[in-house]
Amino acid sequence: MIDGKYGFGIVGCGLVSTFHGQAINAIEQAKLVSAADLSQERLEKFCGEHGCEQAASFEAMLEDDRIDVITVLTPNAYHAQFAIPAMQAGKHLVIEKPPEMTLEKVDQMIAARDAAGVKCAISLQVRFRKPVEAIKSAIESGRFGRLLQGDTYMKWFRATDYYLMDDWRSKREEGAGVTIQHAFHYIDVLYHLMGDVDTVRAQMYNLAHPEVELEDTVMAFVDYKNGAKGVVQGSTAMWPGTDIRIEINGEDGTAIMQGERMIEWKFRDEQPEDAEILSGDSQAFKTGAGGAADLAYFEHMYMIEDLLAAIQEDRSPRVSLESSRGSLELALAMYKSADNDSELVKLPLS
Ligand SMILES: NC(=O)c1ccc[n+]([C@@H]2O[C@H](COP(=O)([O-])OP(=O)(O)OC[C@H]3O[C@@H](n4cnc5c(N)ncnc54)[C@H](O)[C@@H]3O)[C@@H](O)[C@H]2O)c1
Repeated sequence: MIDGKYGFGIVGCGLVSTFHGQAINAIEQAKLVSAADLSQERLEKFCGEHGCEQAASFEAMLEDDRIDVITVLTPNAYHAQFAIPAMQAGKHLVIEKPPEMTLEKVDQMIAARDAAGVKCAISLQVRFRKPVEAIKSAIESGRFGRLLQGDTYMKWFRATDYYLMDDWRSKREEGAGVTIQHAFHYIDVLYHLMGDVDTVRAQMYNLAHPEVELEDTVMAFVDYKNGAKGVVQGSTAMWPGTDIRIEINGEDGTAIMQGERMIEWKFRDEQPEDAEILSGDSQAFKTGAGGAADLAYFEHMYMIEDLLAAIQEDRSPRVSLESSRGSLELALAMYKSADNDSELVKLPLS
């Protein structure tokens, strides 16, 4: 702790770090202590902009008693290598999505977390979006009746520069590709809302980025265990990029979220709060359609506040390693299907 606040240390000062820096600085109970990065230039820029110390190294942050929480913002295939030593040093964790690139590494992190008795939140911040919370609560209270369909449509744009900016962004084994990198948030939202998946069939394409060998577009059909069906469409090829849509249909209701707003919210049993859910709270913010920096930090802030509450209440954070593991398994099943002529893949993966 530092001045009665939870001290934070960040490893990885790239694109997403600015949203974490802003979010931590906006939380009364939190204090950004230090950051580490391989690039001195990025480290200096981040520490200057967000008012924290340059740590001598990641290992030095682990020995710093002022730091309670380590935030892991390194590329997708380099999360466990920081998370596990941090857990072993007794630090709580925020880890950017996806939790890692393999289920085995997620299981290793779960074991390390449990052995150390620390809390770990995954940065799948879209789960904290008001329309997603409203849909989740309507599903749980039975307002949709029997669920029939759960879809996501993500027609985003990323210029080729985005893929060439850092080495890992064009390497599938390091976590690049629209399915695991961009659509992952909305695959996660579907998993969060609709539950376990029985089977998936997927195709992947490179429609507009011939300079890199990656899928920039994914299409999948999903059969959920509850009997509902679903479509996952995700792309970074669709200039100029439009707001994502999540569409949920049940026998007794339909909800459509577009960007950060609920644009359709109809149930057979109308309730007084329905009008307010539909009109939203007029807090318009960007949700990443047009570019990687096209984001607001509020949802990261809600996710970090939840981690601090979880520490105080000794409960699991709302986005745990276990629940993000389910979303990772679904994304990996899509790759398995697409790699094998769109074969039908049954979950859980063996
Ligand atoms: N939640 C979101 O909305 C969101 C948005 C963008 C990115 N992300 C995720 O955040 C993570 C980082 O993405 P990014 O776009 O910021 O990547 P980035 O490449 O811009 O930044 C990663 C940083 O990690 C540093 N790094 C790599 N290895 C290191 C090491 N051994 N020690 C110290 N620093 C090291 C790099 O130098 C780089 O500055 C990824 O997992 C990505 O999927 C999440």
